[in-house]
Amino acid sequence: MYLGIDLGTSGVKAMLIDGDQNVIGSATGKEVATARPHAGWSEQDPADWIRATEEAIAGLRAAHPAALAAVRGIGLSGHMHGATLLDAEDKVLRPCIMWNDTRSHREAASLDADPRFRKITGNIVFPGFTAPKLSWVKNNEPDVFAKVRWVLLPKDFLRVWLTGEHLSEMSDSAGTSWLDTGARKWSADLLAATDLEDRQMPGLVEGTDAAGILRSELAARWGLGEGVVVAGGAGDNAASACGMGTVREGAAFVSLGTSGVLFAANASYLPNPESAVHAFCHALPATWHQMGVILSATDALNWHSRVTGASAADLTKELGETLQAPSGITFLPYLSGERTPHNDAAIRGAFLGLGHESSRVVLTQAVLEGVSFAIRDSLEALKSAGTRLSRVTAIGGGSRSRYWLKSIATALGLPVDLPADGDFGAAFGAARLGLIAATGADPVAVCTAPKTAETIDPEAALGAAYEDAYQRYRRLYPAIRAAY
Ligand code: XUL
Repeated sequence: MYLGIDLGTSGVKAMLIDGDQNVIGSATGKEVATARPHAGWSEQDPADWIRATEEAIAGLRAAHPAALAAVRGIGLSGHMHGATLLDAEDKVLRPCIMWNDTRSHREAASLDADPRFRKITGNIVFPGFTAPKLSWVKNNEPDVFAKVRWVLLPKDFLRVWLTGEHLSEMSDSAGTSWLDTGARKWSADLLAATDLEDRQMPGLVEGTDAAGILRSELAARWGLGEGVVVAGGAGDNAASACGMGTVREGAAFVSLGTSGVLFAANASYLPNPESAVHAFCHALPATWHQMGVILSATDALNWHSRVTGASAADLTKELGETLQAPSGITFLPYLSGERTPHNDAAIRGAFLGLGHESSRVVLTQAVLEGVSFAIRDSLEALKSAGTRLSRVTAIGGGSRSRYWLKSIATALGLPVDLPADGDFGAAFGAARLGLIAATGADPVAVCTAPKTAETIDPEAALGAAYEDAYQRYRRLYPAIRAAY
């Protein structure tokens, strides 16, 4: 048996699989709260991650005690880029500054102006990445900065609790702005540029390698045996890719979660920071990936739900399943700024083209279209970075909306595959990494793609209307930027 633990933005999910990769069961902990004390800030208390992991494992133990007792390997996945700062006693120094926190946009711009960052990491220094957050802490909380013994990514903080080891792996570390992404090692130069040293960073392994053994105390408490291997694991996007079998050149998925991601696997390192594409290491050795990231996907629909007082499910139900031509209302989903393609932490969202007749349902339609167009922007960015896609697989909570899938297929002009029933997300990918680390199985043989249940084709009759609406969408960002 193998256990995958995914530390998501809103909570922790734990999943058990057997040696043939059948899902035995999964459980989640209670929600993890995000604090937003100032505009653009987003913080979580790492103690909540431990609490939520304990709850998820207790849930598995209650439902599947014998299977849990037989676990031999654990894989970790987590939201990326967060700055989790520990002192010399491994105590948390301040709340984790999360991936969608943009307070460090000035520090990010100043690091990005140093040409070494793009050259060595292959990426823009985005405000959500880890290095500028450390510069912000140095500038604003010097007492905290002085005590920083370890800078850890969120899932690697869980590893310290699980195993006592300070280790990370390549896929998550590529999102820090300190990794030499082509060479798969920390860059001493880039660390020095933020007044940090190699010794403050975790040791690096591949996601498929063993990276610690579960502490005896936890093993005993959860009813597991001794010697359970904890794999390097992956950042949540690379972990999802392992779950979806997106590990070979040409394979791609679109993820509609809190953030939206268009992810493509690459056999080689293909950076192109100018298009705001992320070029990261994959969780498998000698593999990389590109992704376009939009900061608000289902979060945009959740915002619309909050202000209208209707649940997201009711809003999409009201819209029905028949794709409509864009109404002329455009929604820009930049509720917490945008990464791909604009790299703009200060921009904010907009509704344009409202009239007396504009009803709630038309606004819902515009919100879903706006996210589809943002993902089309990511597709264009990946194209300019040399990647050609012929189809994508959809995952994430938003992929439950049939309307949204049709809208995405039509906006991208690509067929969208829906995996057969099952859960192939980050927790499953993490469990696969646990299996590989514990058994030495061939990663590519383990990380296969699920069967496709159904393919949603672009709606040819609406292709031209969607293209017009996309071109209008593209013209609006520079116009609004200029008006700020
Ligand atoms: C990726 C990113 C997000 C988080 C969310 O660069 O910031 O997808 O990993 O979990």
